[in-house]
Amino acid sequence: MLRKIRILLLTSLIILASVTSALAVLTLEQRLGKLLYFDRYLSSNHNQSCASCHDISAGFADPLNLRLPDLYPVSAGSITTAFGGRNAPPSAYALYSPPFGLDPATGLYVGGQFWDGRAATLKDQAKGPFLNPVEMNMGSEANVIAALKDPANRNAPEYQRLFSLVYKINLAAVDPATAPAKVTKAYDKMAQAIGAYEKSIQFAQFSSKFDAVMAGAEFFTPSEANGWALFNSKAQCNLCHPAPLFTDFTYDNLGIPKSTHPLLAANAVDTGLGSVLGDPLQDGKFKVSSLRNIELTPPYGHNGYFVTLYDIIHFYNTASDMSWPAPEVAANVNRNELGNLLLTEAEELDLVAFLKTLTDSFEGKRFAPIIP
Ligand code: HEC
Ligand code: HEC
Repeated sequence: MLRKIRILLLTSLIILASVTSALAVLTLEQRLGKLLYFDRYLSSNHNQSCASCHDISAGFADPLNLRLPDLYPVSAGSITTAFGGRNAPPSAYALYSPPFGLDPATGLYVGGQFWDGRAATLKDQAKGPFLNPVEMNMGSEANVIAALKDPANRNAPEYQRLFSLVYKINLAAVDPATAPAKVTKAYDKMAQAIGAYEKSIQFAQFSSKFDAVMAGAEFFTPSEANGWALFNSKAQCNLCHPAPLFTDFTYDNLGIPKSTHPLLAANAVDTGLGSVLGDPLQDGKFKVSSLRNIELTPPYGHNGYFVTLYDIIHFYNTASDMSWPAPEVAANVNRNELGNLLLTEAEELDLVAFLKTLTDSFEGKRFAPIIP
């Protein structure tokens, strides 16, 4: 019941966001954000940008994970022997996640960025990767600003020009030694520009076969059509992944087992939202992922436990039976909406076929989002 109410909440967000993303031309602020998003010079070894782990070729997630999902459930950092603890989600469609908060109508946490919602907005999120030792590893905000201005950075003149035009900031005068407050301000604006770019049309293509079918311009195959029907009925996926964004941005503990992968096995138990809020009732909960471009973003789950789409669907279908290892976090596991779906194998495969219709065709025609 609660879930139905959440869908209403989303409707208004979609209307808002589809208005802004209808602007195909980048603003100056977004152009600045785009330069920053692709700039590898802004990492400790000058070898990694946001796009390294959120590339269009991999549905805005990590191409390494797409190529070798069983070997690399997580991403390597600028230091290429350092690995993060969670699978990289897409940066696309993240613009539709509302700022993190408690929805008073449902009593559920909604929105935010990261698997655990710890960044409220895209701007806040963009401040993290530069400083994260297992990502771009820059050490400090001052180091990032110094790398922006470094004459060896071929974007330096354009940064100088755009910071001045967009934010009235003279980067040449932003000196960490004499003006630390200016560094903080410039770093804040940098994150703002990246967040603005991530709200551009590029990150909200709506050009998948699904969008075309909904607009009446294409037809599902019988298997895809059956998958879509199951998605909204027997398989109950729509309870948490409602179209057209395929997420309601709430949090749940699916009871995914702890990863035994060599890159993750030694990690502490990941309690997700619970540790962000310091609330044991939220332990084990992670944000509902959008399923757009899901075909391109293996492996699946916050810890990449499932290598293929079939694997995770089979888990939804059978998680309640004893064939699966214990959940990583035993508390708060959702057993009402998943775990014993009684899907046949043919039905599981139809769901896989349907999910593959959610892949954007990046040269394809854009269809306006369907508002429920
Ligand atoms: C080394 C790989 C790596 C790099 C580089 C990287 N990210 Fe990420 N990104 C991740 C991972 C892993 C997560 C999930 C982490 C978590 O939830 O704790 C993530 C999460 C995100 C999210 C949240 C998406 C969601 O649905 O919650 C956004 C947006 C994002 N990154 C954008 C960026 C931007 C912008 C940059 C550059 C400033 C960047 N990333 C650099 C790996 C990376
Ligand atoms: C009770 C809410 C709920 C239901 C019902 C549900 N999901 Fe999910 N789904 C989630 C959450 C939460 C996550 C992220 C969980 C995690 O990684 O810990 C997720 C993650 C996924 C992922 C992996 C996303 C990624 O980027 O790694 C796929 C694929 C998926 N769901 C597909 C489905 C399908 C197909 C169904 C129906 C059979 C379904 N879900 C039903 C809540 C739900």
